[in-house]
Amino acid sequence: MKKTKKISLTEISKPLQAELTAFNLHFKEALKSKVPLVDLVTKYLLRQKGKKIRPLLVMLSAQICGGINERSFRGATLVEMLHTATLIHDDVVDEAKERRGLPSINAVWKNKVAVLMGDYLLSRGLMLAVESEDFDFLRVITASVKRMSEGELRQIHKTRKLDIDEKSYFQIISDKTASLISTCCEIGARSATDDENKIKALVDYGENLGIAFQIKDDILDYKGKSKITGKPLGGDIKEKKITLPLIHALSLADEKERQSIIKKIKKSTRGNNLQDILNFVDKYEGIEFSYKVAEEYAGKAKEALSIFEPETRTSLELLTDFVLLRNK
Ligand code: IPE
Ligand code: IPE
Ligand code: MG
Ligand code: MG
Repeated sequence: MKKTKKISLTEISKPLQAELTAFNLHFKEALKSKVPLVDLVTKYLLRQKGKKIRPLLVMLSAQICGGINERSFRGATLVEMLHTATLIHDDVVDEAKERRGLPSINAVWKNKVAVLMGDYLLSRGLMLAVESEDFDFLRVITASVKRMSEGELRQIHKTRKLDIDEKSYFQIISDKTASLISTCCEIGARSATDDENKIKALVDYGENLGIAFQIKDDILDYKGKSKITGKPLGGDIKEKKITLPLIHALSLADEKERQSIIKKIKKSTRGNNLQDILNFVDKYEGIEFSYKVAEEYAGKAKEALSIFEPETRTSLELLTDFVLLRNK
């Protein structure tokens, strides 16, 4: 892996500190509810510290397209709400007990509350867009929510059959992750311009960035530090999710070794066999391969920005480096 200067999110966010503080207030306000249990859970959600990459993308995209305005704030609130909703649902689906360094909603309040809270946040987010008549946002965000659900369902389907190739993997991560990341860029752009060339460039940037982002997430599931990511490690294998590092290794192994690893994955429900599977991935350099692929997508994301003036692109470019180098 290439050594590049470590880049922090704080550094990238610095020029937008005032805007991001204002966003946090917007977000907090939008989460308020008179229903006691909803209020309790949303207060807990506000204690969980997510990276807030999606609102940052809305802001940076608005900025590069002419400037941040009230609509950009609404867009940022909308995407972070939908993202939070999908994470709450995702942890139910993945039976994950930890998120952002704290017990997940399903771990604290059980699945029933988590499912309904996810629904609440999803509908509340869409409602905000309706109230402000941001119908252009609604059009893109609903398409993206549909793709996210399709991606997660396709993943479940593939997981059950334990047969997955690179092509299905890319389709799944494009739907479940890149769709929303690209939507963040589109919403930010649309809040500031109606120049379809600029919007299209940012959609492309977001799609490629999103793919790199999920590949890195999948690498972190193998090689990250749970204390830093705030999520359980090895969760993907436990859930029998075969991601790029393993797909690559399986594609290089002979039939006998392949079958033996597939058997181990089938039996790995309680996290046993994890080390054997990791060794197998290492033997075929699955992580290095995946990192290279992520780098290619990050490169494509940067290229998509070429229609903008170089001096305006810096933060979005730095964000592609951050996505590759991040530990959380
Ligand atoms: C996690 O997204 C879900 C994926 C798409 C991999 P983030 O890593 O952006 O989650 P938070 O918001 O920072 O917790
Ligand atoms: C991304 O996949 C989930 C969503 C798009 C909601 P993961 O299941 O890998 O995400 P984490 O690792 O739980 O955050
Ligand atoms: Mg998950
Ligand atoms: Mg993951």
